Amino acid sequence: MKVIGICGSLRNNSLNKVVINELKELSSDTFTVEVVSIGDLPLFNGDLEEGGDPSVVHRFKDQLAQADGLLIVSPEYSHGVPGVLKNALDWAGSMTNVNVLDKKPAMVIGASPSAVGTALSQVQIKQTLSACGAYVLPQPEVFIGTAHERIGDGRVTDEDTISILKDVNLKFSNWIKRFLH
Ligand SMILES: Cc1cc2nc3c(=O)[nH]c(=O)nc-3n(C[C@H](O)[C@H](O)[C@H](O)COP(=O)(O)O)c2cc1C
Repeated sequence: MKVIGICGSLRNNSLNKVVINELKELSSDTFTVEVVSIGDLPLFNGDLEEGGDPSVVHRFKDQLAQADGLLIVSPEYSHGVPGVLKNALDWAGSMTNVNVLDKKPAMVIGASPSAVGTALSQVQIKQTLSACGAYVLPQPEVFIGTAHERIGDGRVTDEDTISILKDVNLKFSNWIKRFLH
């Protein structure tokens, strides 16, 4: 099974990038994760879409269309979804062009240095995915709080977090299988 991974942070030293890469390694027995960058996507503009998706958008949507699942690992900005991620989802879940999120199994995870960070952004991300017809894994919810204490030198160092990621990885893989034809 092929999963596309999207990180909601473009930062080089992103905690969320570490988590997505950790999941990529942990999932090697269940599915492959190809992490795609959303930083080069133009700002969504219906005029651009009308003229045919720009090539970078076309490539991004094609990767999603080919995938069996979508993994999103994202921070929370000002109690909401990072704009760069919402922009990517607006392109992917187009109501006027091809919607590549429809019926796509998806999982959302978030990491933050704060204690309860990403709960609010995850609600928004899941709401958007559901509006686009994606099948969002309902449980378990994974909020990696105090992430700066659980992540170091580009790896997840906290054993409890690693076992949570292993568990959710297995559940996501079973979730995807429910929708394979
Ligand atoms: C503009 C901005 C707004 C933020 N708002 C929140 C927030 O609402 N909740 C939260 O838990 N962290 C918030 N943070 C802190 C981020 O969780 C923290 O910077 C985190 O490391 C970003 O994720 P990354 O390491 O993957 O880039 C905010 C950071 C920025 C830059």
